[in-house]
Amino acid sequence: MPHDTLLVMPSAIYARSYQTAVGEGYEPDGAAPPVPPTGSIDGHIAWLSTQGDEIVLPDGRAEVRGPHVQLWLVHAYTFIGRVNIRFRLTEHLQNWGGNIGYAIRPSFRRRGFGNHILAQAIPVAREAGLAGVLLTCLDTNIGSIRIIEANGGQLAGVGPHPYHPGQTVRRYWIET
Ligand SMILES: CC(C)(COP(=O)(O)OP(=O)(O)OC[C@H]1O[C@@H](n2cnc3c(N)ncnc32)[C@H](O)[C@@H]1OP(=O)(O)O)[C@@H](O)C(=O)NCCC(=O)NCCS
Repeated sequence: MPHDTLLVMPSAIYARSYQTAVGEGYEPDGAAPPVPPTGSIDGHIAWLSTQGDEIVLPDGRAEVRGPHVQLWLVHAYTFIGRVNIRFRLTEHLQNWGGNIGYAIRPSFRRRGFGNHILAQAIPVAREAGLAGVLLTCLDTNIGSIRIIEANGGQLAGVGPHPYHPGQTVRRYWIET
C-alpha cells in the first residue's frame, strides 16, 4: 500500500482514525496535550504545529523548540504514522532525536511504511535546505536501524544514551 499513501499536515479530518491508533498503542509526541478517546483533537493538533514555544527536556531543562514540522502518513481517511522533521539541531537533538523521527501505528507495522515515511521525509528536508540529516536510534531498535540504513544512513557514532543509563544510541547521517 505505500504507493497509495500521502504525507499531509495533521488535520482533524483524520481524528477518528488517529484516536483509534492511540487506542491500539500508537504513542503521540510525548510533550503534546493528551489525545481524548473521542471528541475534538484540535488542541493536540494545534500543539503539533506550534512554533517557537518551549519544551521540557528529559533532564528537566527547558528549551525553545526550533523550527519543525510533523507530517502524517495517511491512506484515504486512515492515519498510518507520523514523521517529525526538525530543521535546526539543538545540543539536545544532536545527542538524542536528530533531525528526523518517525513512528508507525502498531497495526500497520512490518508492511514497509516505516521505510516509506523516512524516504518521503528526506526530500522535505532537502527542499528546506538541509544537505544532510542526523538520525538517532537505540541500538536495540532493529526496525529503525534497518529503515535508516535502507535510506542511505551512514553510521556516524555509537555511544551511551544521554538520558537512560545502560542504553546505547546509534547516530546516523543521511545525505539528502
Ligand atoms: C520502528 C518502526 C518505525 C518500524 O516501522 P515499520 O513500518 O514496522 O517498518 P518497516 O515495515 O518499513 O520495516 C523496515 C525493516 O525493519 C524490519 N523490522 C521492522 N520492525 C522490526 C522489528 N520489531 N524487529 C525486527 N525487524 C523489524 C522489517 O522487517 C524491515 O526489514 P527489511 O527492510 O529488511 O524487509 C515502528 O516499529 C515504530 O513506530 N516503532 C515505535 C517508534 C520508533 O521506534 N520510532 C523510531 C525511533 S528511532
